[in-house]
Amino acid sequence: METKKLVFQCAIILPFLLQVQGQYDPIAFTLGQDSHIDIQSAANATKIPFSVVITNHHQANVNAGEFTCTENGLYKFQVYSLTKSNSSLFLELYVNNKLLASLWGHTTGDYASAGNAVITSLVEGDVVSVKTRSQRAVNIFGKAGQIYTTFTGVQLGSLEIDAERYGPMSAFSVGLTQHQEVHTGQNVLYNNILTDTNTAYSASTGVYTVPSSGLYIFHFFSLTLQNKGFWQELFHNNIYVCSIYGRTNQDYADAGNTVLLHLKENDQISVRAHRNSSLFGTSDQIYSTFSGTQLVREADISSGHEPIVAFSVGLSHHVTVTSHTKVIFDRVFLDLNSVYDKKTGEFTAPVGGLYEFNFHALGKLDSRIWLELFHNYRYVNSLYSHTPGHYATGGNAVVLELDAGDVVYVNANGDVNLFGGHTQIYCTFTGYLLFASSDPTEIIG
Ligand SMILES: *[C@@H]1O[C@H](CO)[C@@H](O)[C@H](O)[C@H]1NC(C)=O
Ligand SMILES: *[C@@H]1O[C@H](CO)[C@@H](O)[C@H](O)[C@H]1NC(C)=O
Ligand SMILES: *[C@@H]1O[C@H](CO)[C@@H](O)[C@H](O)[C@H]1NC(C)=O
Repeated sequence: METKKLVFQCAIILPFLLQVQGQYDPIAFTLGQDSHIDIQSAANATKIPFSVVITNHHQANVNAGEFTCTENGLYKFQVYSLTKSNSSLFLELYVNNKLLASLWGHTTGDYASAGNAVITSLVEGDVVSVKTRSQRAVNIFGKAGQIYTTFTGVQLGSLEIDAERYGPMSAFSVGLTQHQEVHTGQNVLYNNILTDTNTAYSASTGVYTVPSSGLYIFHFFSLTLQNKGFWQELFHNNIYVCSIYGRTNQDYADAGNTVLLHLKENDQISVRAHRNSSLFGTSDQIYSTFSGTQLVREADISSGHEPIVAFSVGLSHHVTVTSHTKVIFDRVFLDLNSVYDKKTGEFTAPVGGLYEFNFHALGKLDSRIWLELFHNYRYVNSLYSHTPGHYATGGNAVVLELDAGDVVYVNANGDVNLFGGHTQIYCTFTGYLLFASSDPTEIIG
């Protein structure tokens, strides 16, 4: 077993070493909150300070919860959070004084989670931060070993470096700034276009048309109108990929998902309603979003010159994951070089470097979900959710520096009843290599 692993690593790492210097090293960070925060209602928004730096790569300029851009380019940001019981979460992601995205969570009698993701271009000096909504009290849950509230930023760097050779990689990020009733089988028509490098998203059809073949990652989030629901699905051409679902009594429900796909030029990606869905959006509250970017060009996949690592897996059946065991995802959307083990639930890094991970879950009816991401034996972050009388959802994201051979997996805390079906994939786990490190100690290993 050990010998086989070693041979595998050497065989694929050595050719990559020659290329590592040519790769673009992106700025990336993940901040987390490992203590409670209680913010009183105030006229002005309050910045979330974030108490721990989980990862800071390439000297990301993060200070007291704020990220200051030091290199012009496109960036992806993700925020996840959890309220204290019976409290509400009302957070906003800002660049300078411009709202990028909103998060809302409240569940009577339990803790509510929420998340969002956007891609935006920044110039040097721009400041990105997570703030509370003005005039709102916000209570965030956090403890050592229980980090639900995170702020992740990743520079989509190769856009700048390889633009001359190949043209820019495509990225888009759209949202709803008005409420929308989406009928069964129809696409969500996101009206607010924040980013669309190749004019590849159509606001009149809701379809993103893939400009060139390669690997792409997508994030989509929604919030319902009060006491309404949504059930939406990501479609690749006319093929079902994965879902989000939200519903609470007398409140607003949030859900999101992430998937990484290998696509061909002119493929079409959209978010459709499986059932009539009532989505929330106003000009100053953007919860319902759809974002995506090309990560790797087809030419780079087929050439084999660069270390390309990417996997995206989901759960296609109900399962009870017993406490302190791993979630085993069975549906494989993508798994280049077999880095995800469907027997153990572990991702193993074939090369050292900087990786991004995303995980999302939906619990069975009235069930509590509590999942934790682990890097080897080290706890990273969590999702928690419970919506009495309904299905609860949660997610989280992180960037991590890994050594070759490191494992990353999703563990249950307490017995967790996850919801899944053949065409109802809410629970997912996605990861990819952002940048391969050239640390000589990893070369020998
Ligand atoms: C609150 O915001 C207003 C308007 O931006 C600003 O003039 C004022 O100084 C702020 N107050 C505090 C205490 O930061
Ligand atoms: C939350 O609200 C529910 C219902 O009103 C109540 O039963 C419960 O005790 C409250 N929990 C806390 C921690 O305040
Ligand atoms: C969905 O919305 C359409 C159009 O408003 C309506 O005709 C239909 O009855 C709705 N379906 C359900 C199941 O509510």
